[in-house]
Amino acid sequence: MDKILVPVDGSPTSEHATEKAIDVAKKYNSKITFLLVAKKPEVIGTGSGGTGTIFSSKEYINELKEEQEKTMKNFLKKIDMEGIEYDTKIMLGEPYEKIIEMSENENFDLIVIGRRGFSKITRFFLGSVSQRVLSGAHCPVLVIPEKKD
Ligand SMILES: Nc1ncnc2c1ncn2[C@@H]1O[C@H](COP(=O)(O)OP(=O)(O)O)[C@@H](O)[C@H]1O
Ligand SMILES: [Mg+2]
Repeated sequence: MDKILVPVDGSPTSEHATEKAIDVAKKYNSKITFLLVAKKPEVIGTGSGGTGTIFSSKEYINELKEEQEKTMKNFLKKIDMEGIEYDTKIMLGEPYEKIIEMSENENFDLIVIGRRGFSKITRFFLGSVSQRVLSGAHCPVLVIPEKKD
């Protein structure tokens, strides 16, 4: 259990998943990597003439990355990482694909992911990201439900 991948979207459930990942990391002396994937929109909105505006410029991509870096920073502020070795990674693309890809390319031993993200339908379903990671990953996946207060 050397390397744990924790995909985060900034949601309270991913925060809860992070707490559980820290528990595991403390037991096994593992290193945690936090991964936030920014969905890269190919086309957003339509102009008055019906022409789509394509956001693929370097400036836009950089802006998107900066925004996600802020999200990651704010997220980590809320968490006590004392004594935990960790790093962070921001990627652009389809979240579940990037999560699975990274877990394989960098030989992670475990993925700890939230059961839900920002959606409020908590009862029956897994979120689409967690569901796809669960069915596609080649390493063990620990799915953490939302926190009950
Ligand atoms: N863009 C993302 N980057 C990294 N991890 C993510 C991303 N979106 C979701 N996750 C992870 O997947 C978990 C479940 O989220 P998701 O499947 O998107 O559920 P929902 O449909 O409720 O938003 C989150 O708690 C988080 O751990
Ligand atoms: Mg989501």
